[in-house]
Order: sequence, then structure tokens, then C-alpha cells
Amino acid sequence: MTALTLSTTGAATLRADALVVGVAKGTGSKPGALVLAPGSEAVDKAFDGKLAAVLETLGATGAEGELTKLPAASGLKAPVVVAVGLGPVPDKEDAYDAEALRRAAGTAARALTGSKKAGFALPAASVEDAAAVAEGALLGAYAFTAYQGGENKLAPKDAKSQGNGPKLPLAEVALLGAKPRDKAYKAAVERALALVEEINRARDLINTPPNDLYPESFAAVATAAGKEHGIKVQVLDEKALAKGGYGGLLGVGQGSTHGPRLVKLAYTHPKAEKTLALVGKGITYDSGGISLKPAGHNETMKCDMSGAAAVFAAVVTAARLRLKVNVTGWLALAENMPSGNATRPGDVLRMYSGKTVEVLNTDAEGRLVLADALTRASEEKPDAIVDVATLTGAMVLALGNRTFGVMANDDAFRTSIHEIAEEVGEPSWPMPLPADLRKGMESPTADIANMGERMGGGLVAGLFLQEFVGEGIAWAHLDIAGPAFHEGAPYGYTPKGGTGSAVRTLVRLAERTADGDLG
Ligand code: BES
Ligand code: MN
Ligand code: ZN
Repeated sequence: MTALTLSTTGAATLRADALVVGVAKGTGSKPGALVLAPGSEAVDKAFDGKLAAVLETLGATGAEGELTKLPAASGLKAPVVVAVGLGPVPDKEDAYDAEALRRAAGTAARALTGSKKAGFALPAASVEDAAAVAEGALLGAYAFTAYQGGENKLAPKDAKSQGNGPKLPLAEVALLGAKPRDKAYKAAVERALALVEEINRARDLINTPPNDLYPESFAAVATAAGKEHGIKVQVLDEKALAKGGYGGLLGVGQGSTHGPRLVKLAYTHPKAEKTLALVGKGITYDSGGISLKPAGHNETMKCDMSGAAAVFAAVVTAARLRLKVNVTGWLALAENMPSGNATRPGDVLRMYSGKTVEVLNTDAEGRLVLADALTRASEEKPDAIVDVATLTGAMVLALGNRTFGVMANDDAFRTSIHEIAEEVGEPSWPMPLPADLRKGMESPTADIANMGERMGGGLVAGLFLQEFVGEGIAWAHLDIAGPAFHEGAPYGYTPKGGTGSAVRTLVRLAERTADGDLG
């Protein structure tokens, strides 16, 4: 992955391919004027104090997402300057919003794809600012190239050396203006590195095609990571699942030649006072099963394990940061395929909890695998459970492609999650669990059906899950169907494909729990 260093030299003497500065849109007394953000002073000096004027002449306005490249002035060791827009100047001039910094750093890092090293001269006067710049730059410096530029019998022998292979992400981010010997800065940088490395690993898992990533291979990745980071990993294969009576996981997985798995990852801290359980939907491919999805709805369904990828990344990050909290991750892994062995609409499954479910639509499979994992997680009586899932198209209709829905059996917990998500720069919105929607799931044959009313489909799914959570345990459900996978053009630090949605929220939740901030 991209390296991150705290530069000990100033911007003028840094040897790098480019220097990144921030520009903002003037407000108040300077409406419309281009304003250089703090951190850019040394670069501006090399331009005789005329950098803002030069950039304005080039058409820069400071708008968010805007990027201007220009040759550097003599006096700078780096040959290129990259100016990124931060949006309007904040009320207090040096208090730039962390998310604006993250996005700007990400935009710059993406524009520097193929470069070796860039100096980031963005605001870094506070540890929070430096951390945001570090996170954004590292998140932006991501590319999924595992399946590109390999052996090609028709390509000329030296195609790669001619630069025909995939372009690699920016190799080194040097943060300028941060205090390299200050403990707080060092800790923030270490945190950013661990966090983003795991987010990028989650993105890799999401982007990996489903012919290579299936329950067994995902479980193997988790087992290897567990060994590396001192996390206890247990894998239940289909035999063990049958013995344990995991009817939900088995019912969803039985149509595939790749059997289901339930993976438990346990990170423990000797002085932990709380235990947090995280449950992830891990459908490595969702074809819909016998209720097959139509063409146009299944091309991106390798992303249906994004919840499990987020949970996996969060547990590993918690372990790497040695957080004083126990974090248990449950990955509910299955491939939803149609076949002669597949569950049919009309079949009844006996779940791990003992409850029976009439499967009316085999495409409502996420709630079935999650139900078993939620019951199993509840048995260990954690202080709280959070599940993460690309659960419903209805949530995408409700909240769009960038915002996840938060449901919970406890209003205060739901509010906390929403606030934590906001704090780390992940858009979310609290959603209700209206009790009247339960009747739509009544089944004449079983205890409950896996489908209810179409209207409010995201909330119906939440109500279904709630029935499999142990009595008295605080539980929240994040439906990340919208933001998990980005199909449009990249923006800020968000690439095309898997985004790593919810990892930052889960990690901050674990940190807050470790600090005793939450109930
Ligand atoms: N994996 C899908 C939900 C989804 C949709 C994720 C779009 C990402 C983007 C889920 O398993 C599903 O198919 N849900 C159905 C439920 C319905 C059959 C009750 C849906 O939302 O249509
Ligand atoms: Mn489905
Ligand atoms: Zn699904």
C-alpha cells in the first residue's frame, strides 16, 4: 500500500513529484475570491505571493472537487503544484471541515496516480486536520489492478515496460506541516495507516470477482489475517452448520457448489470492560436464487458481501490499534444461486434460533443469513450488536447512493451511531422500525415469512432482523446497499467499485466503546 510519512523538511526543499495545496472560495469580505488554505505559505512564497492570482487566471474557484495542475515556480524542488478545492472558506478561517480535507486530499491523490511521491501542504496545524489529510490521501490512492495487465499472448513482449500495464496508485504521501516528533501526530498517522489499509483490503475483497471470492476463500482470508494480528478465528463449514442447525445460512447457501460458512473473529483485550459484536452480510454473489434477478440487476452483486468485508476490516483495525474493548466479528457467508438443490419460494427453513421462516422470495436472502448470525452473536451476551448489510434496494430508493440507513431497537443507540458516522465523514440517516409492518410478514405456514409489504421494504427487513436479536441487547442495523459500491465516476477519496462503507463508523464506535463513552 501507499506509504505515509511526516515530512521533516519544508515544502520548498521536499523532493517529490508534486506539491498539493488547498484553495477555497472566499466568503464574507472576500466573496468569490480565491483563498489559499493554511499550509500553502511556502509554496505561495516561491510564486512571489502570487499563487492565488495565478490559479484564478487558470480558472480555479476553490469549489469542492476542483483540481488545477500547474508547473512549479523555481525555488521549489518539486516540479508540479496541484491545487485542490476545499469549498467555501469556513467561518473560522483555519477550521476546515475534516471531511472537506479528506475529500480534497483524495482528489489530489487520485490525480497523482502513477506518481512516486507527493508532498501534501494542506492544513495540518491540528492533529485532526493532519489525520483527515492522511486518511483522504491514502483512501484516494487506491486502485484495484489485480486482474489487469497480466500475461497477454497478443501483446508485444515489452508492453509492460512501455507503460501499458495498469497505472499504480501514488506510492508515497508526505505530510507537510505536521510535527513529525510529536506523539499525538505519530499516533494519528499510525491510526490512519492501519484504518485505511484495512478499508482498502475491504475494497479489494468487494472488488474481487465472485468466481474467486466465495465463502470458503473469504474464510481463508479471514483465517490468515487472524493469525497475523492475534485474532482468534473459528470457521463453521457446511457440515458444522448442519450439525448446529443453522437453517438460514444453509437454506441460502444450498443452491451453490460453494457451501456457506459462518466465521467468528474474536479480538480481545485483557483490560476490556465491554464487548461489541459486529455482524456482516456476506453474500459473495447474489443472483437472487430461484427468484432470479433480471439482467441489469445482477452485474454488481459481487458487492453483496460488503457488510462482511466492513466487519472484517473493523475487527482487524481494532486489533491493530490494540483498542481496550473486545470486538467479535461474525461473517455470514453464502452464495445465493439457483439450482436443483436451491431453496424454493414456498420452502420453510428452521433457523438457528428455532423459529421457522417461510421463504417467499429467495432474493430476500440477506436477512436469512444475518438472522442466524444475530442469534449466534446474541448467545454470547455482548453489550451491543451492530449488523452491516447491503440489505435492500428499498433503502437505496429512500436514501440514494451515498447514505446508509440506521435502524435500532434503542433510540439512543441509533442516535449515537448516526452521530459517530457523521463525525467520521460517512453520511447516514436514522430510520424507524414501525411495528405495524410486522403483519405483512405473517405466514400461514411458518412463524414468519422472509418478505412483507413492498412499501418501506428496508424497514420490513429491519423488523425481520430484530426478531433474531437476543432479549435486552442493544442492536443497530446499518443498511449500506446504497453506498457500499460506487458505480459512477470517482470523486473525492471514493473510487469506482467497493468503497469500504461503514468501516470508519464501526472503528470509531469501537474506540468510543473502549473509552467508555457509550452507556
Ligand atoms: N442484495 C440485495 C439488495 C441490494 C440491492 C444491494 C441493490 C445492493 C444494491 C438483496 O438481497 C435483495 O435482493 N433484496 C430484495 C428484497 C426483496 C426481495 C424483499 C430487494 O431489495 O429487492
Ligand atoms: Mn437478494
Ligand atoms: Zn442480497
